Amino acid sequence: MALKKLVAGNWKMNGLSSDLAEIRAIAEASEAYRQVDVALCVPAILIERAGRAAPGFAIGGQDVHEAETGAHTGCVSAQMLLDAGAVLTIVGHSERREAQHETDADVRRKAEAALVADLDVILCIGESLDIREAGAAVATVQAQLDASLPHGEGASAGVPASFAIAYEPIWAIGTGKVASPSDIGEMHAALRKRLVAAYGDAGNEVRILYGGSVNPSNAAEIFAVDDVDGALVGGASLTAEKFVPIVAAAASAP
Ligand code: PGA
Repeated sequence: MALKKLVAGNWKMNGLSSDLAEIRAIAEASEAYRQVDVALCVPAILIERAGRAAPGFAIGGQDVHEAETGAHTGCVSAQMLLDAGAVLTIVGHSERREAQHETDADVRRKAEAALVADLDVILCIGESLDIREAGAAVATVQAQLDASLPHGEGASAGVPASFAIAYEPIWAIGTGKVASPSDIGEMHAALRKRLVAAYGDAGNEVRILYGGSVNPSNAAEIFAVDDVDGALVGGASLTAEKFVPIVAAAASAP
């Protein structure tokens, strides 16, 4: 049976008080699509205000530190995200892997810290264009998944219900280029196998999202692919006008 789809927006470094009305509009419009889980991951500093603007709507962070507290200037812990009202967080986005030099091991520890604290997790993986063109995309992303997957206390408590993977080919993020349905299907099937290898039957319950230039025109085609259990949406999540049709497409997916 198909898993309940999750459509999560990633606002990246966008969002001011003046955008709270947009968050409220997205939350209100999403209520018509109860068969889909909808969330917005906003800058940490906006989480509390976003929660007040849209009570009951799932607000998340975009990163979390692996430690509970301590001398980590500028960082945000899982408890801080929860305290601000977040219910989930992204970890391992390619922009952070690249700009903040986050490794698979860093990403795994972040995911574990979030799950232990009872935050849901969207863990991002994806290949560069060079790797895709070299024909090594599936093997590379599978290896990335294996090395980033949470283990231990948080993982056994949190997998699968509160844990999702986002496959985001780096060359498709913010570029308007989308992986073909057959490439997405091939990758998601390969990732499903790895999840089952890691977690047994529970691996079938982990949602695998696609991300990278998802928009209202291509969402239905992407959601029709086997093992696509939702989307992580960047640019098109910034307005209700673009984001809500993606939620609607998820709601009517097969
Ligand atoms: P995009 O970003 O939808 O703007 O391509 C997706 C992401 O980075 O999560």
